[in-house]
Amino acid sequence: MAPLRRILSRSQIRRTVKGLAAQLRSDYGEERPVFVGCLKGAFVFLADLVRQVGIPLQVDFIMVSSYGMGTTSTGKITLLKDVATDLAGRHVVFVDDIIDSGLTLQCVREHLLSRGPASLRVCALLARESVLAEGAAIDYLGFPVPEGFVVGYGIDYAEQYRQLPDIYVLEGEG
Ligand code: IMP
Ligand code: MG
Repeated sequence: MAPLRRILSRSQIRRTVKGLAAQLRSDYGEERPVFVGCLKGAFVFLADLVRQVGIPLQVDFIMVSSYGMGTTSTGKITLLKDVATDLAGRHVVFVDDIIDSGLTLQCVREHLLSRGPASLRVCALLARESVLAEGAAIDYLGFPVPEGFVVGYGIDYAEQYRQLPDIYVLEGEG
């Protein structure tokens, strides 16, 4: 097994999720937004986030595949599961674990916009410094992260490590 180097502790994550939730609470108030989580990686983040937000909201999921079992993007995005909620006229918050190249975000954004939401914003726990430097439009961001394959807190490598409460970089990968 590849060695893991811890980069974010559960208490750092908890503080940051609380801060994001406070921003979302003040921005959405009584709008009853739909939080669309990206499976599977965002499931832990989304679960913690919605419990902190403390306003009426709905939750749905979308599932796309780009990585398969490796650590590098195939560059092709396939929609594996669509949202079940009618998003027309709704305020939508897309919630993802990590924005890496930004390709998934771009595809999902176009897809969700085609459903005619009243608004669409993006909330990501992590985003690469490189994609932020390119100007990726992320409305609510937890932490910028450098290169290096990250795992834990819902995020996997070949379906391993999702259950870890902290976030790690997989040494010797990426
Ligand atoms: P993008 O399309 O290149 O932005 O990649 C987005 C998706 O790839 C993320 O939502 C993750 O599911 C996955 N991904 C990207 N980087 C990592 C990583 O370092 N660890 C685990 N999954 C990753
Ligand atoms: Mg993902």
